[in-house]
Amino acid sequence: MKREVFLAIAALVLAGAAHAAEVMEFPASKGKVIFPHKKHQEMLRDCTKCHEKGPGKIADLGQKWAHKTCRGCHQELGRGPTACTGCHHKD
Ligand code: HEC
Ligand code: HEC
Ligand code: HEC
Repeated sequence: MKREVFLAIAALVLAGAAHAAEVMEFPASKGKVIFPHKKHQEMLRDCTKCHEKGPGKIADLGQKWAHKTCRGCHQELGRGPTACTGCHHKD
């Protein structure tokens, strides 16, 4: 019985973690950025577009990296938001 309760909680925690990674949120004074990670993974397929040093945390993540990498690609492809308010959401 106890074990079943533990497993149910573990499943909920894991489901929450998996969900959190699908869409990421980065705080910014301009307004938080909501980044659909999973959508980009499936759409771009190439992890190295953002993970030059392999999947995981990105040490350079910040304004300079994001505007060059994220906004840069959107500008280059003519797809995805390039206006400030396309990425930065005030709530
Ligand atoms: C369009 C950019 C982009 C692409 C493409 C991308 N990622 Fe990410 N990924 C990110 C960003 C941004 C983070 C957050 C990094 C941080 O918090 O330091 C991240 C985080 C991660 C993390 C850490 C997750 C966590 O919760 O801490 C993993 C693992 C990961 N990505 C794997 C992948 C794999 C595998 C692929 C290819 C199938 C991929 N990513 C493609 C941008 C991208
Ligand atoms: C290598 C190219 C590339 C990179 C890098 C990239 N994106 Fe995108 N992004 C796209 C494309 C292409 C679309 C358009 C998808 C569509 O039209 O459905 C898009 C769409 C989006 C959208 C709109 C999503 C939606 O559901 O309409 C957001 C928000 C976004 N990107 C944020 C980011 C952020 C934040 C980063 C950096 C962490 C990033 N992107 C990096 C190519 C890229
Ligand atoms: C493609 C998405 C995207 C677009 C378009 C974009 N940004 Fe950003 N911006 C980001 C991301 C991602 C970060 C990094 C957030 C972090 O590291 O927490 C960021 C960081 C910032 C920061 C520094 C962090 C902070 O505390 O605010 C400022 C300022 C900023 N952006 C302003 C702008 C302005 C002004 C524009 C329009 C000219 C703009 N951004 C357009 C995604 C974008």
